[in-house]
Amino acid sequence: MALIFKTDIERGGAWRAAFAKQLPDVELRLWPEVGAAEEIEYAVVWQPPAGFLASLPNLKAVFSIGAGIDHLLADPELPRGVPIIRMVEPGLTVGMTQFVVMACLMLHRSMIDYRNQQVAHHWEEISQEPPENRRIGIIGLGHLGGEAAKALRGFGFPVSGWSRSRKQIEGVTSYAGEEELSDFLARTDILVSLLPLTPQTEDMIDAKLLSGLPKGASFVSAGRGRQVVEEDLLAALDSGQLSGAVLDVFREEPLPKDSRFWDHPRVIVLPHVASMTNPATAVGSIVENIRRIQRGEAPLHQVDLEKGY
Ligand code: GLV
Repeated sequence: MALIFKTDIERGGAWRAAFAKQLPDVELRLWPEVGAAEEIEYAVVWQPPAGFLASLPNLKAVFSIGAGIDHLLADPELPRGVPIIRMVEPGLTVGMTQFVVMACLMLHRSMIDYRNQQVAHHWEEISQEPPENRRIGIIGLGHLGGEAAKALRGFGFPVSGWSRSRKQIEGVTSYAGEEELSDFLARTDILVSLLPLTPQTEDMIDAKLLSGLPKGASFVSAGRGRQVVEEDLLAALDSGQLSGAVLDVFREEPLPKDSRFWDHPRVIVLPHVASMTNPATAVGSIVENIRRIQRGEAPLHQVDLEKGY
């Protein structure tokens, strides 16, 4: 029995050590050293080449190394009968909570203005709003969004979330479905996107959606770049409809050198680093699921291919 592991990031060593400790009965193979394909029962992957997973005849589960699974759905030969499992692990969750809190606090505490003042050698106090006056809305209120929402509540912000189905999170107002989107936007001063990329969310953050926010609202983008119509976002920033944006994901990554986002005075650009899976804690989640599958139980966090996340 073997597990194939493929990542683009040079962290194979940390994963190997964690697997050896927590899964000693399964042989770990690091891609591209695939060996005998029929021995491989589990694949833990980021951006596998198209057709690779289909070439493993005895695959029992595919684990995404990241929270998103769009890198798997991009493979036209993805084996549809094999469970696909999203990465839900404490390290990734903590990292995303930190990122969302950091970005919201930067926007709340006028850090974009202070950065611009520093560049201009300009000293001026900007008045501080109490957190009660800054309503944060998380679009994509899944596991990561829910944890970030709870942390933001701790700072005293009114927090709501929008998702396809209604969620129960103490202290967080849950808006659900297309018909409640405009009410959600109308009460959101900082919009945080943690949406999964699906045909429904592609291009969803466009001029119409942004115009539903109160004038001067701001935006944190940490889902996927293809959800955002970048020209519409730039127009909203230029017109003052949006007062600022913290952007971690882009339609094209790395962000092209000539993108207007780089030098936009109301934008903070990050190179898709909001949160990273931590091998030390992620292997525990993967092993738990492998044990469940070995016992004949349903794995946790299995992707619903109909919904796309
Ligand atoms: C990163 O973007 C991830 O999907 O975890």
